[in-house]
Amino acid sequence: MQIQELVDLKPFNTMAVAAKARYFTTIKTQTDVQEALAWATEHGVKPFVLGGGANLLITTEVLDRLVMRMAIEGLEVVGETDEVTYVKVGAGEDWHATVDRLITMGYAGLENLALIPGTVGASVVQNIGAYGTEVAQRVQEIEVFNPATDEVEAMRAQECDFAYRHSIFKDATHADLVVLSVTFALPKVWTPNLSYKELANQVEGLETVTARDVFEAVVAVRSRKLPDPKVLGSAGSFFKNPVVDHDQFLALLEKFPSIVHYDVGGGHQKLAAGWMIDQAGLKGHREGDAGTYEKQALVLVNHGEATGAELWRYAQMVKATVNAKFGVVLEPEPVIL
Ligand code: EPU
Repeated sequence: MQIQELVDLKPFNTMAVAAKARYFTTIKTQTDVQEALAWATEHGVKPFVLGGGANLLITTEVLDRLVMRMAIEGLEVVGETDEVTYVKVGAGEDWHATVDRLITMGYAGLENLALIPGTVGASVVQNIGAYGTEVAQRVQEIEVFNPATDEVEAMRAQECDFAYRHSIFKDATHADLVVLSVTFALPKVWTPNLSYKELANQVEGLETVTARDVFEAVVAVRSRKLPDPKVLGSAGSFFKNPVVDHDQFLALLEKFPSIVHYDVGGGHQKLAAGWMIDQAGLKGHREGDAGTYEKQALVLVNHGEATGAELWRYAQMVKATVNAKFGVVLEPEPVIL
């Protein structure tokens, strides 16, 4: 294991923020994880596990951590039942490439999540979701390294407290667990999930819809609406879609009859934060190099040289503007460091 100092993190975060890591190491094996954590303890530095850096905003110039860039590889079929095939994938594998590879191998089930930037490990931490599917629906087991016991432990999906863009790995009490691999349960009998209208429109006219068709449809829809992080820095949706109770919803509906909302049960409604930011006049707005994307107001973008602090200030402005207009408090979706 090699520890580097003052490493530029710009290539390692999709927001393209030019922060530096005080210490940096690449993790290829479980032994690397153990050695890196031991090094961090010995030197009194907090570790930070970095996946694809696709859901991250670094607000300081120097991140005073040991950044452990997760690069554990591997993809293998590890079992099956009559209903599903189990495929175990290393935490450092690229998410989109994994979805693509699995479909080529004949394993469908993750196609709605195509083109999401990031790694397989981060997919479960964040419980990524798009077009009516969340990764949690396909997770069988997650292998984690637990520094408290110094052992590798297997966690079942039911133990991971999965919810909208949330898992147990985001809780302070479990944040020190390091995800090593994810085992997916992929259905042998597959039906497309075309509940999202734009996706259904995209495959209209096809006689039979394959997982590859859905994959390509998702890529087309996402490419139309979301920036390619290689071209324009972003972390996908910057805020979560907020959930409000029935009374607040009725009051909002009266004032804003066209407010975009989804019933999430229990009398609660989820509101489209992108719609609210757009209505507040901030779609495509820009202050210096920090701004909101011209085609999707929920996405904060770095037009080039915005610092993390500038992007964070911009986000606070968006949050305050939406709160002033709608009385709704937006919460950031990415990890803020
Ligand atoms: N809208 C506007 N103006 C905008 C943006 C959105 O009017 O500038 C409206 C849209 O017309 C639509 C509604 O708001 O009626 C929702 O927009 P969209 O379908 O683009 O989805 P979203 O709620 O903004 C969520 C996820 C995305 C995911 C899509 C598709 C969150 C925070 N975001 O976005 O996930 O791809 O649904 O399922 O839940 C991410 O998490 O990084 C992400 C990109």
